[in-house]
Amino acid sequence: MNQFTRRNFIRAALATTGSVVVSTPLQAMSRPQLPSEVTFEHGVASGDPLQDAVILWTRATPAAGTEPSAPTKVTWELSSDPEFKKIVRRGGAETDLARDFTVKIDVQGLQPNTAYYYRFIGASEQSPVGRTKTLPAAGIEQVKLAIFSCSNYPAGYFNAYQLAAASDDWDAVLHLGDYIYEYGSGGYATERAAEIGRALPEDNRGELYTITDYRKRYALYRTDAGLQALHAAAPFIAVWDDHEISNDTWKAGAQNHSEDEGDFFARRAAAVQAYYEWLPIRPPMGERNPQIYRSFRFGDLLDLHMLDTRVIGRDQQLDFKRYMDSEGNFDGRAFSAAMADPDRSLLGKPQLQWLQETLSTSTGHWQLLGQQVLMGKIHLPVEMMTSFYRGGSQNHTAELIGLKAASLQGKPLTESQRARLQHVVPYNLDAWDGYAVERELLYRHIKGLNKNLVVVAGDTHNAWYSHLKDAAGQMVGVEFAAPSVTSPGMETYLKMDEEAATEMAAGMPVLVDELQYCNLHQRGYMALTFRRDGVQAEWKYVDNIRSTEFVEVARHSVTHTLS
Ligand SMILES: [Fe+2]
Repeated sequence: MNQFTRRNFIRAALATTGSVVVSTPLQAMSRPQLPSEVTFEHGVASGDPLQDAVILWTRATPAAGTEPSAPTKVTWELSSDPEFKKIVRRGGAETDLARDFTVKIDVQGLQPNTAYYYRFIGASEQSPVGRTKTLPAAGIEQVKLAIFSCSNYPAGYFNAYQLAAASDDWDAVLHLGDYIYEYGSGGYATERAAEIGRALPEDNRGELYTITDYRKRYALYRTDAGLQALHAAAPFIAVWDDHEISNDTWKAGAQNHSEDEGDFFARRAAAVQAYYEWLPIRPPMGERNPQIYRSFRFGDLLDLHMLDTRVIGRDQQLDFKRYMDSEGNFDGRAFSAAMADPDRSLLGKPQLQWLQETLSTSTGHWQLLGQQVLMGKIHLPVEMMTSFYRGGSQNHTAELIGLKAASLQGKPLTESQRARLQHVVPYNLDAWDGYAVERELLYRHIKGLNKNLVVVAGDTHNAWYSHLKDAAGQMVGVEFAAPSVTSPGMETYLKMDEEAATEMAAGMPVLVDELQYCNLHQRGYMALTFRRDGVQAEWKYVDNIRSTEFVEVARHSVTHTLS
């Protein structure tokens, strides 16, 4: 837990709205209160595990006809066996409308590296049983994480979550953001929603602005069977990306927020409140503070640092279009000057400083950064980017890949061919590529510490594996990026069928220096297994998101071994 002792945290949590029930050993086995008539239709969840604590979550929906302002009471049980024969902790919790009837218990005084089972109990209903696990203290041989991003309800069924829920050996599930999307009906990725039975409901059809809007969207997403199953199967460690607030959020605004949509910070506060209410998270600075970055220790094998590259410190992303004149000429000099500005930040100075200090003092064998946007350089020839902007052309791309392959094989290229390959620009200015000065600063710091660095990213909707290299071309670490659960990827933007997308994915690592692998068209998730001598990444893909009938269709696996 960053900057905060447990005692301070408890004080902060209690000082906010009394919204987290902290279970200390003193409270253990206290007499449960009489529970209310409730249902548990949004399932159960657990998260932010520590060596001795974990957050348990449910929503206790009051029975029809209940006075809406009345407090709602439930009891909860934590057991070391799934039949609840050996109950190790039991307590009561109260919730109400002020927190959307969500319930969070911070159960403390637990054993490390131990699986526990939990459930909530109302007057006449019990919740489903959830399984959770505390973090290991020491002496572990491996850590296994399932990694997700970009689950978009109208775009399809969350089969990737369902697939991962079938395994019961995850130490934790990392969610790197875009857990929900803020768009209304008719917005991004909603085209097939009605046809596949994923239309937004009548009372939540519009774009999200208010606390009620955001809460209803979380409630909708939590009806998905795959998402409920995965939450019940393993503890989540989550951070937001932009769509939990609004598209392309930065520290003082968002692409998808205009003045006529009201005050941005009021909207952001509503979004943050609903996120903290609905996610099984222990907000490091209390339930009203958007500072979400925090660390987790998996014995002496792995330190995980969850970062926020969107909300707390990001300067507004650059936009190629602002450097084009009316005739389409690109002002490269002005663009380069903006890119080189040392004051532009993605993390914000306090978070960067916290990360540098935390990395300096962390002693884990691996240092893992859990964050949103790609850190690896994806630099593409200018003419390829121009063609993307005009709607894409695979032949064009194939030609450039062919030229690059020839040059790598030592075949002579003409001057104009060389020029076509040499003039490259970052593909995505929204990613670390748009904040290259700060990235280099971070690389230099990590290189100086000589740590084993792994970065995970989401956001792009596609799978990527890159060797991270500093300005001198020295390897700093590796990056694995998760595909989306349902949001459309590159195949949709570039209108590629499966064959074209597969062909392009095979050529991209030839064209892009740091890139080792990518998948540009399949939905799924990523599994990472850390051992002392290396880390294995496995991307698992599902055959469809149009219905809940699905099969796993493909896997790709790579191992990064320490030399
Ligand atoms: Fe996304």
